[in-house]
Amino acid sequence: MEKSIIIANWKMNPQNLTEAKNLFNSVKRGAGRLKNIDLIVCPPFVYLSVLGDFISKKISGGIILGSQDCFWEQGSAFTGEVSPLMLRNLGCKYVILGHSERRKYLNETDETINKKIRAALVAKLQPIFCIGETQAEREKGETPNKLKIQIEQGLNGISQKEIKNLIIAYEPVWAIGTGRPCDIDTALSTRLIIRKIIAQIFSRSLSESIKILYGGSVNPENAAGYVKEAGLQGLVGGGASVDAKECIKIIKEISES
Ligand code: PGA
Repeated sequence: MEKSIIIANWKMNPQNLTEAKNLFNSVKRGAGRLKNIDLIVCPPFVYLSVLGDFISKKISGGIILGSQDCFWEQGSAFTGEVSPLMLRNLGCKYVILGHSERRKYLNETDETINKKIRAALVAKLQPIFCIGETQAEREKGETPNKLKIQIEQGLNGISQKEIKNLIIAYEPVWAIGTGRPCDIDTALSTRLIIRKIIAQIFSRSLSESIKILYGGSVNPENAAGYVKEAGLQGLVGGGASVDAKECIKIIKEISES
């Protein structure tokens, strides 16, 4: 059986290193042996080094490390930025790119996201490429077109061979942090739309093999439905991922489904 993927996107939490270590250790203890799940914890940059040490010392319980962002250049003069290679060298395997919060508040565009995806792939980080429509776009029936533009431009110029190393996270903007998760039928139909878009732009085989996750107000009650009924390959949790009990419940729901 193929492993499900759970991304724990801690966003800008917690506020100190002790809490970050406690959260990581509580989730590790509570989750137990991760058999049919890849759990990817994506803390803020400042905690990556310490948590990366847990992984190199093999005391991470199989948890994999990811970053919430990266820049597209390596070295050079870019005050405040973090390169994909720095992340890779700290033990990160994944990087979230194109998150709607960064698109909205930090002016990330499909073009800059494309540069970041390319740079991440060069550094052998697996991008978790976030796409999703707003409430207004869904109401106007623009979801397929919006997703197509994000995919076309975000993956522009990247070969199919490289795209195989990438995960798509469908994260409707209206469901993120709102407590209004996407219903299972909508998640299922949107998964099919995304596969169709990938088949049109790239190939049928890529559309069948690429992993698609769901994110947006995931909780222990709805988690299993996205995997079992909507056929997604996993989940991205935000709010629930920084609450150790909720996070553990989600992991159990998925591993038992
Ligand atoms: P949420 O966030 O689970 O708090 O809705 C998900 C995300 O932004 O990835």
